[in-house]
Amino acid sequence: MNSIPDRHARVLSGMRPTGRLHLGHYHGVLKNWVRLQHEYECFFFVADWHALTTHYDEPGIIGEHVWDMVIDWLAADINPGVAKLFIQSRVPEHAELHVLLSMITPLGWLERVPSYKDQQEKLKEKDLATFGFLGYPLLQSADILIYKASLVPVGEDQVAHVELTREVARRFNHIYGREPGFEEKAEAAIKKMGAKNARLYKELRKRYQEQGDDEALQTARALVEARQNMTLSDRERLIGYLEGGGIIILPEPQALLTPASKFPGLDGQKMSKSYDNTIALREAPQSVQAKLRAMPTDPARVRRTDPGEPEKCPVWPLHKIYSTAETQDWAQKGCRSAGIGCLECKQPLIDAVLAELAPIRERALEFENNPALVRNIIAEGCEAARDVACVTMEEVREAMGLAYR
Ligand code: TRP
Ligand code: SF4
Repeated sequence: MNSIPDRHARVLSGMRPTGRLHLGHYHGVLKNWVRLQHEYECFFFVADWHALTTHYDEPGIIGEHVWDMVIDWLAADINPGVAKLFIQSRVPEHAELHVLLSMITPLGWLERVPSYKDQQEKLKEKDLATFGFLGYPLLQSADILIYKASLVPVGEDQVAHVELTREVARRFNHIYGREPGFEEKAEAAIKKMGAKNARLYKELRKRYQEQGDDEALQTARALVEARQNMTLSDRERLIGYLEGGGIIILPEPQALLTPASKFPGLDGQKMSKSYDNTIALREAPQSVQAKLRAMPTDPARVRRTDPGEPEKCPVWPLHKIYSTAETQDWAQKGCRSAGIGCLECKQPLIDAVLAELAPIRERALEFENNPALVRNIIAEGCEAARDVACVTMEEVREAMGLAYR
């Protein structure tokens, strides 16, 4: 809770360029991003360096995957007019922050991140005993902290990385947030608030420090935040002074846990490229239809006249996502009584998936036919991201004693 509350809280999230996205990504991540872009200032980026931490031996495919993924984002209705879309390697300041943070990050913190051992186990065929792979959660910390993001939408498997980020930020602020003469500077900043607000600030600070009154802390933060005419450093001092410490240079982010989406694949397992059970966002309607028609069903329904049990059928979870209560009822009854055949049962799903994908495919086509437009969107996003990243880096360099250039 150390971050400066911002009425326009910033959201940052990244995705590895793994190729074309599918319905699992859409329901699990992209729909969430689309919602968030209207509520916050959003930065979404292609984590191409992250892809290299595990796929360093396949450099040829990254470029293609990057653009395919960006087109899929746009097709899913991520709006480059409101969200900033960029590519990690085009904002090299991420790497600079990564190297500077590495100076203060104990090795044990990285070795203890659960994904480190897990992924090494899972991807046995790869040699992941690399420096880059060990450091990748810290690279993620740099991705987040460089934008001073307050919210990071991630899945369960990434929460530990946000936690690491918070620890690194805390350590950074602890070591570098103690500028000489901090107290005097903070007192001077209080005076600049004007008599009435200064009195209120002091009272709230006292209430928080003496009684641990969290509400007083929140109110005081809001009071400081509203002083938009003061310099950012003064506001940061005032926030830091509330809690007694120093300046908060890198605010701690919070994970915004995306509810685990187990979007069902064509075989009943979770939809995933590695199971070869996906429907791509840009899949041709013919192919969508063919795949759904070929889906396995309750094995007990050998003949059309055999009754079945939806709970034992991989098609049923899709009904629960796409069908109305009425259609679900029809499918259940028809299945258990052998009143309908499996192809009949699948038809409303085929219709629903095709209807969902139609506008996505249409938008994708527009971008496929206009690669220059996509390049421009990314160029603008990179520039906007870089503007923010450069400001943070100046503060970081200054705090670390590197401002002598
Ligand atoms: N590590 C994430 C993944 O593998 C992607 C990622 C990189 C990310 N940097 C990030 C996600 C920053 C959120 C914030 O999925
Ligand atoms: Fe599955 Fe529907 Fe066939 Fe029943 S009728 S087995 S729910 S596809």
